[in-house]
Amino acid sequence: MDINWNIDYVEEVTSTNDLVYRSVVTDPSLTEGYGVSAGFQSKGRGERGNSWESSKNQNLLLSFLLKPGLPVSRQFLLSQIISLAIAEYLVDHDIDGVKIKWPNDIYVGDRKIAGILIQNILQGRAIRNSIIGIGLNLNQTEFYSDAPNPISLKAITGNEYVIQTECLLLLDTITKNYTELFKVRKAKPQNMYRFLLYRLNEKATFLDKENLPFEGIIKGVDDQGNLEVERQHGIEHFGFKEIKYVI
Ligand code: BTN
Repeated sequence: MDINWNIDYVEEVTSTNDLVYRSVVTDPSLTEGYGVSAGFQSKGRGERGNSWESSKNQNLLLSFLLKPGLPVSRQFLLSQIISLAIAEYLVDHDIDGVKIKWPNDIYVGDRKIAGILIQNILQGRAIRNSIIGIGLNLNQTEFYSDAPNPISLKAITGNEYVIQTECLLLLDTITKNYTELFKVRKAKPQNMYRFLLYRLNEKATFLDKENLPFEGIIKGVDDQGNLEVERQHGIEHFGFKEIKYVI
C-alpha cells in the first residue's frame, strides 16, 4: 500500500490542521497523502484544547489527509499506527527509551517529543477523511510555554536536523506502518503499542474526572482505545477525558 504524498510548504499559518481541514471540506477531490507543513504556527493546536508550542523553523509541523475507510469503532487503530510510526522513526535515529503515553503522546523517558492531533470527518459509521497533525520537536532546545516536559531530538543527540529530510523519513515510516491497517490480522499494532506503553505495569498516580488522585497500574488498552487500569476492585476502562497522568 503506497501513499501518494503531496505535502505543500507554507512559512506561516494559524494551524496546519485547520488549513488541511478547510481544504478537505472545500475540495472533496483531494486525495490521501495531501498535506501541509509549516515553518511556524500562530495558533498551533494540541489535544484537550491545549496549544502547541514551536519556535519558528525549529521543528516539524505537519498535517495530512488519510482516507482509512475504517469503521468509527476502530478509529483508535489509526491513532496507534501513527504513534507507532513516530516511535519507529525515533528508534531508527538510535533514540533509547521511546514510549507512547496513552493515547498518542510520544515520549522519550519522561519527556514529550511529539504530539498527534487527529480530526476525523465521518460518513455514517465510517471514517471518510482523517486529518493527522503531527508536531515533532527537532531542533528547539528551549521551550517557553507551560507545557510540562518538552524535549527535542537535538536536546537528546546534540545534532541539528534538516526539517525537510526528517519529514520525508517520517513519511516513509508512516507509509510502512499504514499498510498494517489493511491486513486481516491486526494483532501486530495492538501488541507493539502495548509493548511501548508509557508506565505499563508500573504503580502510578492518576487524576480522575473530578481531578481526584488515585493509584493504579496500567495494564493495556482495549480495542476502543480505552486505557485499562488495575485498581483495588479489578481492571477499569478509562476514556480520553476520564483520566489524567500525574507526571
Ligand atoms: C498534542 O500532543 O496535544 C497534539 C499536538 C499536535 C500538534 C500538531 S503541530 C501540526 C498540527 N497542527 C496543529 O495545530 N496541531 C498539530
